[in-house]
Amino acid sequence: MATTKTLSTAQRLARASVRPLQCLRKGPAYAQRRAISAYGYEQAKALVFQDYGDPPAVLSLHGHSISPPHGDLMTLRFLASPINPADINQIQGVYPSKPTFTTSLSTAKPIAVAGNEGVAEIIALGSKPKEAGFKKGDWVIMNGPGFGTWRTHASARVEDVVRVDDAMRDGISAVQAGTVSINPCTAYRMLRDFVHLKEGEFFIQNGANSGVGRAAIQLGKQWGLKSINVIRSRDDTAAEDKLKKELKDIGADVVITDAELQSQGIKDMVKEWTNGGRAPIRLALNCVNGKAATAMAKLLASEAHFVTYGAMSKQPLTIPASMLIFKDIHFHGFWVSKWAQRHPEDKKKTVADVLDMTRKGTFKDTPFDKIAWEWETKGEELISKVKDTLEGYREGKGVFVFGQT
Ligand SMILES: NC(=O)c1ccc[n+]([C@@H]2O[C@H](COP(=O)([O-])OP(=O)(O)OC[C@H]3O[C@@H](n4cnc5c(N)ncnc54)[C@H](OP(=O)(O)O)[C@@H]3O)[C@@H](O)[C@H]2O)c1
Repeated sequence: MATTKTLSTAQRLARASVRPLQCLRKGPAYAQRRAISAYGYEQAKALVFQDYGDPPAVLSLHGHSISPPHGDLMTLRFLASPINPADINQIQGVYPSKPTFTTSLSTAKPIAVAGNEGVAEIIALGSKPKEAGFKKGDWVIMNGPGFGTWRTHASARVEDVVRVDDAMRDGISAVQAGTVSINPCTAYRMLRDFVHLKEGEFFIQNGANSGVGRAAIQLGKQWGLKSINVIRSRDDTAAEDKLKKELKDIGADVVITDAELQSQGIKDMVKEWTNGGRAPIRLALNCVNGKAATAMAKLLASEAHFVTYGAMSKQPLTIPASMLIFKDIHFHGFWVSKWAQRHPEDKKKTVADVLDMTRKGTFKDTPFDKIAWEWETKGEELISKVKDTLEGYREGKGVFVFGQT
């Protein structure tokens, strides 16, 4: 085995680059400098966790290096990765899809990289990805949950990713590509796959200002559907009015608060909106649960469909038996990950369709809180941004946007 003395320059650099970054970056020479990729070794940083728990308590920024890709591997550089509620649930250990805990990122104990959605560019690739048609500079999104997207770079296999074709990518920003595969797809499928709504028919939804909610409003509008949208009340009425207007501007027909939904006069109001009750509400989309979800179900027509896809209030969904016995409301659950696993081709088409609408300007971005992640960005800064997303009443969805990494 070669001793340190007999190592070639390349070998020494390669060895140095597999040391944890904390060691590499102690000296002043490294203070503000991106660790340079030497001989194909890529320096990476990732938000990781060793144990499940409260994200601010368990997350840390970990540095490691990635060897040059060979065989079926490719090296990715992330461009944009959102912070979705499911990512938080996954770190807390309460999400059904578990991340991979591994020591392959140069740690003694297994760690997992947080984040499930994002877009990355291929910066180097082995022979198998080349044979599969991938090339340097291609953009890819994740093929399923659990990959770990809150990181600057990653090593991936062909089956981990789906390429964003050049035609699909045309005119699309990294943030748009990095946020297309979960929320818009969820809204799209829920509006399409449970009941056939004809033009002019209504659906009702809560969490209407969420990423999924805003996507449902816009897609519904394009398909000629009308929407009744429930948001949480704000203490500040000006902020509440501003949010109602924001949703109307992207196509919401009616926006009410959860307090208005549960008020005495709601049935009369619904009659007024639905042409004296002649336009039945046949679909409800629920990501909240609790009393406000039950109140929403009460507004549905007989044999309507009620789709639950989230649990933001952390309350159970309570359904009076009469809704099942006499109104025959059909209650469903929807999980886009499972749907995508079963329908990979439809997933690609759905993504392509949404990106097409985005390119044409008929599908607008959800408001984003772009969190710049540069090589020098401190772990505390990134983790405090993740912490912020745990608070409700936010004006934009947090998205890591990677700069000079
Ligand atoms: N099943 C699936 O396949 C699937 C796919 C995508 C998303 N989801 C789920 O859909 C939901 C929305 O996700 P997203 O990424 O679109 O959300 P988002 O853009 O991050 O927005 C969060 C939404 O949750 C609301 N919220 C926060 N805390 C709440 C509470 N305690 N009670 C009621 N509402 C609360 C917020 O309302 P305020 O502004 O009032 O705080 C906001 O509307 C989440 O539950 C997520 O897990 C499910």
